[in-house]
Amino acid sequence: RSDLPIYTKGEVAEHHTLKKGMWISYHEGVYDITDFVHEHPGRDAVTLAAGGPAEPFWAMYGFHEESPFILQKLETMRIGNLCKADQLKVSDFDDPYIDEPKRSEDIIPATKKPFAGTLRLDYLPLNFITPVQWWYVRNHLPVPDLDANNHQVILEVGGTQRIFTMDEIQQMPKACVMVTLMCSGNRGYEMLETTGTKTKIWGPGAVSNAIWTGVKLCDLLEAVGITAENHGNYKHVQFVGTDCEITGVPYSVSIPIWKAVDKKGDVLLAYQMNGEPLTRDHGYPIRMVVPGHTGARSCKWLTKIILSDKEADGNSQMYDFKSFGPSVRSTTADYEKAPSIQAVPVHSVICRPKARDSVQVVEGRIDVKGFAYAGGGNKIIRVDISTDQGKTWQPAQLDFQDNKSDYPHNWSWTLWSCKLPIDKNQHDVEIWCKAIDTSSNTQPEGFEYIYNFKGVTANAYHKIKFKLIP
Ligand code: MTE
Repeated sequence: RSDLPIYTKGEVAEHHTLKKGMWISYHEGVYDITDFVHEHPGRDAVTLAAGGPAEPFWAMYGFHEESPFILQKLETMRIGNLCKADQLKVSDFDDPYIDEPKRSEDIIPATKKPFAGTLRLDYLPLNFITPVQWWYVRNHLPVPDLDANNHQVILEVGGTQRIFTMDEIQQMPKACVMVTLMCSGNRGYEMLETTGTKTKIWGPGAVSNAIWTGVKLCDLLEAVGITAENHGNYKHVQFVGTDCEITGVPYSVSIPIWKAVDKKGDVLLAYQMNGEPLTRDHGYPIRMVVPGHTGARSCKWLTKIILSDKEADGNSQMYDFKSFGPSVRSTTADYEKAPSIQAVPVHSVICRPKARDSVQVVEGRIDVKGFAYAGGGNKIIRVDISTDQGKTWQPAQLDFQDNKSDYPHNWSWTLWSCKLPIDKNQHDVEIWCKAIDTSSNTQPEGFEYIYNFKGVTANAYHKIKFKLIP
């Protein structure tokens, strides 16, 4: 790009408003982002960098540098080169991710900074209760390093605050609940790919199942006089995490009050996962677990609970996990009107074989395994598999379910399997799966009519192609 003009950091600094134009520098490039600001998925966060280098921001939101798609997009905005003396070196700023926890090698990263990763898909159906080291991880920021001995949870009701230490919480009546969490963006990659968008984030494995131990939120609220019958004008319960954006704004999300006060809603302040203290990645020392709702509402590293007449104003409530119609684009989305995603629609995924595997036919059959999950307390009642693009279907066997709980209080996934008859003379095979839940909800056939530019609630039939070993 030697044909482009050379600018100094002083000249870049003059361009930090929409009126004068917004420029940023990155390594040796200078970029005019003025027209891009309203398209930026992280909205006006990008304006913070205007007039200066992107590097310190991208150290925090490192997925930008990990994505060739984003780097290509940036290059389309290039207007010049930054003079050599003003270019930053890595040693000029701190890495906010220097102190991340160690993770299993079986967890495949989707993004490294912040860390988001899923278990190898073929391992997912090996355990009904997912071992903690195999749980998917979805962080938006560096992992906080908290000390349970000093950690407090503040409950704010009206003008009054009550402070709970971890000791006090652990002395309250305990509840153990089996809950699957799934990220709203699960299979977002497949949905967005239909419009040619290559994203950083999820394939089909952003889901896991655990037994959580903690205190029921309804019990904590009852202790301050808030019940299903009496919750005044409060409409939402907000949860605030300890992890903070570069702006100092913490992760915050909310759920409707009815879910929080419902004694059978099983919303927990959880301090144990599968009988052990939470690990740092999963919210140590305490997190929310909101059964049946999208994973985002299960706030990790919980520090505050606020009763309010409004939803939380964090990005994950207001922007990230909202769904729009197929024709809406980032430039036309009305975030204020769009409701936040709460309960998760019915999903099913084939985990074995994986797409593009080479599969052996044994006695005219192949082994197929997967999971299915429905939010809102629904239980899976059937999983159907097709080898002829939906002309005929055969039911899979539902091998593992939480049989102690039923609709509308079933919070866990179903693991299923099928010995699928297959003509071994075929070379290329395509199989489809779909699930049906206790409310008779099922999945749409394709992504076309449920497409949304956020890539969320991507629950079309799961379709995979693979080869047979001759
Ligand atoms: N809570 C905080 N404080 N910060 C986060 O980044 N990520 C959310 C939720 N809670 C998040 C959070 C999202 S999007 C999901 S899907 C789940 O945590 C993932 O939980 P896990 O990492 O324990 O699997």
